Amino acid sequence: MSSRTVAPFFLLIALLFCMLSCSKKKETGIPIGQFVSLTGAQATFGQSTDRGVQMALEEINSLGGVLGQPLRLITKDNQSKPGETSTVVRELISRDKVVALIGEVASGRSLEAAPIAQRSGIPMISPASTNEKVTETGDHIFRVCFIDPFQGTVCAKFARKLGATKASILTDVSKDYSLGLAKSFKAEFLREGGVITGEQSYSGGDKDFSAQLTAIKAGNPDVIFLPAYYTEAPLIIRQARQQGITVPFIGGDGWDSPELVSVGGAAVEGCYFSNHFSSQSKVPEIVAFVEGYRKKYNQDPDAMVALGYDALRLLADAMKRAGSTDPAKVNEAIASTKDFPGITGKITLDEHRNPNKPAVMLQVKNGKFVYVESVAP
Ligand code: PHE
Repeated sequence: MSSRTVAPFFLLIALLFCMLSCSKKKETGIPIGQFVSLTGAQATFGQSTDRGVQMALEEINSLGGVLGQPLRLITKDNQSKPGETSTVVRELISRDKVVALIGEVASGRSLEAAPIAQRSGIPMISPASTNEKVTETGDHIFRVCFIDPFQGTVCAKFARKLGATKASILTDVSKDYSLGLAKSFKAEFLREGGVITGEQSYSGGDKDFSAQLTAIKAGNPDVIFLPAYYTEAPLIIRQARQQGITVPFIGGDGWDSPELVSVGGAAVEGCYFSNHFSSQSKVPEIVAFVEGYRKKYNQDPDAMVALGYDALRLLADAMKRAGSTDPAKVNEAIASTKDFPGITGKITLDEHRNPNKPAVMLQVKNGKFVYVESVAP
């Protein structure tokens, strides 16, 4: 091609390019980043959290936003994959210039994100990561949920209340969450005079648990503590029933997913788990929240919906108190959060950036998560 034929061609391309970039509207609103597992192994965790965050976003923006501006939520899916969280969190900070981060549910992924947020000076609020180490990363890392030393204690005390003297523990060694919860359950169960008759482990993604269950059965426990995610818990419990193990399993918040029942069926009936929230609560604010969610999604909200909702609302409240969207000022305001009225309880952040909140025990009955009791911190 001669230069005479090429020149108009380039002009046209340049013109098109300009039209495209000029037509791209300038985005308005305060940029907030959310990193969640919308797809992949623990998709229900991320989907629920996102719905709670979106509910809060709509509410905040319909009431005029924060400091006269709407919040602009930028959500990135980490596909439940290790390594992906760091990539999306870096993007949110350096490309999208978010002033704060909401995430994650799984403690392992919060632990992946936390050092990046901390180094960048961007406050991060985990809605649901309960592992103790998450907020220890630094003074920019917060959470709106209780921590596992408390949750494990609640489960151990509950097991003792059921009359159990012997407990076995089956831990997912691939997850900080499971390791931490197993440790605190064991310490408290022993402290309360119980005996641990067997400790077995597996790795997230495993499908065959027969060897571990055979060993556990031999110890003849009264209960089995299973600090698993919903991805393995129902499989494990089904295989246990097939092996003739009839005692109740007790788990933590990681069981909270519709899949516990859809996969576990009759095998999980009668089992118990600790959680942040019960959709059966009679507290007026919770009733209203549950009704609003039901209308929209035609199902009951799980704990992550409520925690996601609380996380974004707490952040908006802190920005208002800070009177600024400067991350350092927002960080200070989050740290001084006191008596924030969350759906999952009143939130006051302590010097370790953790709240002191009650837990609930739920029991699987007729395929539903039935409220058993609340446990004060
Ligand atoms: N607490 C779990 C973790 O830290 C995540 C979780 C929270 C799961 C709430 C379900 C409900 O990994």
